[in-house]
Amino acid sequence: MFDKDFLWGSASAAYQVEGAHLTDGKSPSVWDEFVKIPGKTFNGTTGKVAVDHYHRYKEDVALMAEMGLKAYRFSIAWSRILPEGRSQVNQAGIEFYSNLIDELIAHEIEPIITIYHWDLPQALQDEYKGWESRRIIEDFVSYARILFQNFGDRVKYWVTLNEQNIFINFGYNLAMHPPGIKDPQRMYQANHIANLANASVISLFHEMVPDGKIGPSFAYSPAYALDCNPQNVLTTDFMEDLNSHFWLDVYLWGRYPRSVITYLKDKKHISINILENDLAILKAGQPDFLGINYYQSNTFAFNPIDGVGQLAMNTSGKKSKQKESGEPGLYKRVQNPYLETTNWDWEIDPTGLRIALNRLTSRYDIPILITENGLGEYDQLTKDGQIHDDYRINYLETHIQAIEQAIADGSQVFGYCTWSFTDLLSWLNGYQKRYGLVYVDRQEAEQSGTLQRIKKDSYYWYKYFIQKQKNLG
Ligand code: BG6
Repeated sequence: MFDKDFLWGSASAAYQVEGAHLTDGKSPSVWDEFVKIPGKTFNGTTGKVAVDHYHRYKEDVALMAEMGLKAYRFSIAWSRILPEGRSQVNQAGIEFYSNLIDELIAHEIEPIITIYHWDLPQALQDEYKGWESRRIIEDFVSYARILFQNFGDRVKYWVTLNEQNIFINFGYNLAMHPPGIKDPQRMYQANHIANLANASVISLFHEMVPDGKIGPSFAYSPAYALDCNPQNVLTTDFMEDLNSHFWLDVYLWGRYPRSVITYLKDKKHISINILENDLAILKAGQPDFLGINYYQSNTFAFNPIDGVGQLAMNTSGKKSKQKESGEPGLYKRVQNPYLETTNWDWEIDPTGLRIALNRLTSRYDIPILITENGLGEYDQLTKDGQIHDDYRINYLETHIQAIEQAIADGSQVFGYCTWSFTDLLSWLNGYQKRYGLVYVDRQEAEQSGTLQRIKKDSYYWYKYFIQKQKNLG
């Protein structure tokens, strides 16, 4: 049973929807530059226009209102507010988000702001290497202060960093996101700095918006052991530490798991430069809730010393392309024989969401907001202009059931945001991998499509679902 005030929402991110990449004083972000490198994104897609939400936000909010949406999570483009990354505020940027917030509130939709969803101002990357410098902590805090001053009166739910585990790993270890680096030592150091920035902003928020709630959003994929072979269980316990507790323990307890610090030092010769006051800063910046982005679970087995190495992820959209990958002598990620996958080889596992929520509750006992959950698939527009995405309805419905069961198990989940409201740019997969409840006529080529919005079957399904919840309440 869901609470009557449960936030039935949907989400997006600035770079993926806004477009207007250099309009009204906005300067380039690291993504505006990264997409120019040949081969980095699917068919060279960019977010220059995206789905033009910047110019069409009223139309999009009207569609949300018609649906009865209770909450909308969106991110703010840092370089729209501060084109140089700091100091000079761009009033047009403030105005855009202020208008969007007012429009949402006028339609009784709770705004949820993500402060950072990966689009760092390029100016800060050029000046001091962005997340690799401690200078970013002060700049991130100043940027957040401007947001709290301008929007804190109307916005009560805030997300600090979106998926720090992803942007740091993909940016500094796999070179698949900006700044395109493959260097684990630099990755772990940048990550520590991001932790300090996150905690500092949370502390500031508690001073400035005492009646609000704030937390990071984390990409959580619970780790499963392939079987009960103790070697695989041991491996999987470590993977839960390496992939998840390494971030979550810092957010909630202000310390790194000992197993990972030992592994980094002894096996990888990586040490994190932790200064005297750092742990106190981390401990002080306690979130009010945990944002969870859930798409899939991960299954692991022990990987012998002559086993598989690291491989790129499937960005082709052709099923069964994902091979086993891992670290020789440690782990490999394997396919779960019990689960179906999407065309991008993401495992579909609603029970995994219940397991995720139960594990998080057991370890941290904190309120949870599902900040993202959804299915990326090809959608077919029929001749008479409809999209019959029953596969998406099935995905969302089964995941919502899993949340309901987790609540019955004891989890404190207070909201759920589908990813995404409209179709949008999937960072590495172009526009063909669609997530929206609303279809947007947009393809990979620049200037393609009319950008017309068309309601999918899943739009109507979510609308009736929210209505039903209201009647039950
Ligand atoms: C999350 C991100 O990692 O997953 C979103 O926060 C992203 O921005 C979503 O779009 C889906 O990932 P992808 O790669 O399929 O677009």
